[in-house]
Amino acid sequence: MSIYLDNAATSFPKPDTVYRAVDQTLREIGVGPGRGGYRRGLEAGRLVFRAREAVSGLIGAGNSERIVFTHSATEALNLAVNGLLRPGDHVITTTMEHNSLARPLHLAEQRGVEVTWLQADGRGAIDSRQLSEVLRPESRLVALSHCSNVTGTIQPVAEIGAIARGAGVLFLVDAAQSAGSLPIDVEGMSIDLLAAPGHKGLLGPQGTGFLYVGAGIELTPLIVGGTGGHSSGLDQPVAMPEHLESGTPNTPGIAGLLAGIEFILNTGVATIRSTEQARVAQIVEGLGSIPGVTLYGPADPERRGSVVSFTVSGFDPSRIGFQLDQDYGISVRVGLHCAPLAHQTIGTYPEGTVRVSPGWLTTSRDIDVFLQALHAIVSQ
Ligand SMILES: Cc1ncc(COP(=O)(O)O)c(C=O)c1O
Repeated sequence: MSIYLDNAATSFPKPDTVYRAVDQTLREIGVGPGRGGYRRGLEAGRLVFRAREAVSGLIGAGNSERIVFTHSATEALNLAVNGLLRPGDHVITTTMEHNSLARPLHLAEQRGVEVTWLQADGRGAIDSRQLSEVLRPESRLVALSHCSNVTGTIQPVAEIGAIARGAGVLFLVDAAQSAGSLPIDVEGMSIDLLAAPGHKGLLGPQGTGFLYVGAGIELTPLIVGGTGGHSSGLDQPVAMPEHLESGTPNTPGIAGLLAGIEFILNTGVATIRSTEQARVAQIVEGLGSIPGVTLYGPADPERRGSVVSFTVSGFDPSRIGFQLDQDYGISVRVGLHCAPLAHQTIGTYPEGTVRVSPGWLTTSRDIDVFLQALHAIVSQ
């Protein structure tokens, strides 16, 4: 028996349609989009277009040309940060960020961009009023995660977006832990740039992700090269999305991502959210009755995504993770989860936490088995 509770790293298993779409694309299409005017090339182009439309529909983006496929959320965040910021710009972020956003910002800092790190509270939350206090005339960007991968804290993105827009500052959201699990509406939330992986809540394969780039925002490409069309000159094409997408894309991965998003649209984000919330509530309640457990993150279930972090007094998180895996076949994540600043914020640095992240396919029984196993481990 094996139970997978690390969906915040990568969702697993995927819907069957995702496996089939990847396999079918590899076997039956073969080539990439725009890499041949023959039937297969055109079919690949149509498939990638449909995937772009699906992403666009899911996040309320209006124009699918503004969806740029990447290989990960990390690449999308690097594209946004490096493509936009110049020395002298000011950026506002938070102490809850994953290294995939914090490191590009830190690198930008070393290249002359000024970064203000808003201090989140002990539950990982930012108050939108904090933002108003630090905005300056040279502020160019507010950049933060929608939902923390350590505490599950959901930030008030619509409020933050409204403040940023009111001040004429662009808003970049890292939706790694929210895309597919929480409602996202880039227009309604005043989001200008949104980065997401395809392999987590969107249920696609690894090696997929995207960046939404709002209308009128021009980014310098991270890489330039072959785009499948506009081949005559040495200048990178200016049309979107080719401007920011060079090299043969991960077409089988994008086909799987399309199947994942179609699954989500058919199921409904609200249904996925309420199912994940029920699993999280079961974990939170169960952990509450295990002696020595400290739970992190928001008390209000409406402010928590599908991530629960905890520690047990007298137990190193890695020992708990090891025993859950070895003795019970249960996969959870332990340590810093690539977000050291977040652990400094909640007081769990450097040991980190045990992180449990149920997904759409996690059953109530899986959670029961996990709680019983944890109980047995801490009672030894
Ligand atoms: C909040 C957050 N941002 C960014 C990432 C990076 O995603 P990817 O591995 O697709 O680059 C993750 C992945 O764990 C994450 O949780």
